[in-house]
Amino acid sequence: MSQNREFVVTANWKMHKTVHEALLFMESLAAELALRQEKSGRSLQIFIAAPFTAIYPLASCVQKKGYPFHVGGQNMHEASAGAFTGEISALQLKEAGAHFVLIGHSERRQLFFEDDRVINKKIIKAILEKLQITLCIGETIEERERGETEAVLKRQLLQGLEGVAELSQVMLAYEPVWAIGAGKGAEPADIEKAHAFCRSVLREKWGKVAAEKVVIQYGGSVQPENTSTIIEKPNVDGLLVGGASLKVDSFSEIILRSQEMLAEKK
Ligand code: PGA
Repeated sequence: MSQNREFVVTANWKMHKTVHEALLFMESLAAELALRQEKSGRSLQIFIAAPFTAIYPLASCVQKKGYPFHVGGQNMHEASAGAFTGEISALQLKEAGAHFVLIGHSERRQLFFEDDRVINKKIIKAILEKLQITLCIGETIEERERGETEAVLKRQLLQGLEGVAELSQVMLAYEPVWAIGAGKGAEPADIEKAHAFCRSVLREKWGKVAAEKVVIQYGGSVQPENTSTIIEKPNVDGLLVGGASLKVDSFSEIILRSQEMLAEKK
């Protein structure tokens, strides 16, 4: 965590939660955080990457009640509209109330065969439509064992962001594929090394000032217990949380531990 960048905690619900469950979660998260407000220090940004069906109800709830959450999608199609059965456009996401979209999650890359070229098209489109994006990158265990981690990250970054003139709508999430849903996250020192490397790639292409502002979240088996050791690293600017974001208890604990550390750093 750094004094110069905002801190972001993102829930990635994947294909979990009905509309009813999503709204219940939001109400109880808001209540839980309000209850423990006095403990919190510098505020952090809370993002919820929801299933498509829950975006509109959640975004309406945020607007009506003034909750401090950003609602977004987990994927989108790169075209404006057309014969793409089962897909969703940037405009449809935005109209539903999405503020951001995850692009290139490893489950999209592996299970739905998205490559850097298509991920790049999605990013260009999302930015054009004024959505904030979180580009997810990370190596597989085989790539790691072959010593290719940095080469993979560099390729995913440079190809994914090709043609992006400036980075103000861009956040990154470093998610080593082998740490996702594994129960044990990557080692904080390895996370810091990967984040610092990503920032150096950004610096080389977009310059120091722009690179220093980019929020780089870590994802992969984040739990309340490993939150503090991961976020104390200077290039970790947030957390992308899957499994532990499905329960209010664990997700709010991750947020509160992050807030406590932000307060200490103040
Ligand atoms: P996990 O998922 O926290 O369950 O490991 C993270 C992600 O896939 O974004």
